[in-house]
Amino acid sequence: MVIQLKRFRVVFLMLLIIVLAACSSTNTEGNTNSGGEGGEASSDKLVIGFSQVGAESEWRTANTKSIKSAITDAGHELKFSDAQQKQENQIKAIRSFIAQKVDAIVFSPVVETGFETVLKEAKDAGIPVFLVDRAVDFEDDTLWVTFLGSDFVEEGIKAANWLVEEMEGVDGDINIVELQGTVGSAPAIDRKEGFEQVMAEHPNFRIIKSQSGDFTRAKGKEVMEAFLKSDGENIDVLYAHNDDMAIGAIQAIEEYGLKPGEDITVIGVDAVKGAFEAMAAGKMNVTVECNPLFGPQLVELIEAHFAGETLDKRISVEEGIYTMDQAKELLPTRKY
Ligand code: AHR
Repeated sequence: MVIQLKRFRVVFLMLLIIVLAACSSTNTEGNTNSGGEGGEASSDKLVIGFSQVGAESEWRTANTKSIKSAITDAGHELKFSDAQQKQENQIKAIRSFIAQKVDAIVFSPVVETGFETVLKEAKDAGIPVFLVDRAVDFEDDTLWVTFLGSDFVEEGIKAANWLVEEMEGVDGDINIVELQGTVGSAPAIDRKEGFEQVMAEHPNFRIIKSQSGDFTRAKGKEVMEAFLKSDGENIDVLYAHNDDMAIGAIQAIEEYGLKPGEDITVIGVDAVKGAFEAMAAGKMNVTVECNPLFGPQLVELIEAHFAGETLDKRISVEEGIYTMDQAKELLPTRKY
């Protein structure tokens, strides 16, 4: 009887060990590599690598904060890398995420091209990539799961339509200077394209100068100084691809002795607090919204992917446009 009881205990213990070993191996596989094919891993706790463009603007700071906190608040582990607006840094960061066997990569590409090889490496390692904010321009769309961000062409169209309406009834040529974003980046290419689409139907609107200010205040100011030096009083409108460059340019306009918002109509993109302050002070006329606060939506998408859902290839963020006369009232409500 005693011998039988001992045998029973041994068999029971062996069974328990087998069951526990099976459970722990499922969990490890689930959390290590999940596939680009989708939904193999559990989304309980994921390790997520986030390669951000940089810290070039107010918009970017808000976007980084939104994504970082959404990932950690949801209980996932974050590995973060700031590329300082350099493509080579992003390629290095993605390779390092692959080597660390993260579960997913969140990636905002500084420019549209040149990332095929490294994204192929992520795909071969079975790591799904989620593009945020900026898109890429290459054929193979199996290299990322989905893109979440703004419609930059639409933003350029909105800016131009506002201008055409604002200038209705003004005779003669309207001279525009354009501060472009980072050369080769999706927002710079698309905001230019959208704006020019509308301008093409209105030949009296002429873009007389166009140059990159790299999305920063300092560069925006510097390039605007050069525009003013060569074209001074001829400039009617400034179209800046983001608010930071517009704010830098406003300083240049004031230092030149003109009144921004009056002598020169100032258009920005992003709708950051700084733009609302400039509008409330009468120095900027309009800003087209580009919403950076999509961290929680991104995390939902990542978790849906790991739960086996198929996501749309492109998911756009809803956005508006705000003018000088709304600024004072809306400023206290702005979240970025
Ligand atoms: O990609 C989004 C753009 O990048 C924002 O408009 C700009 O402010 C940022 O630097």
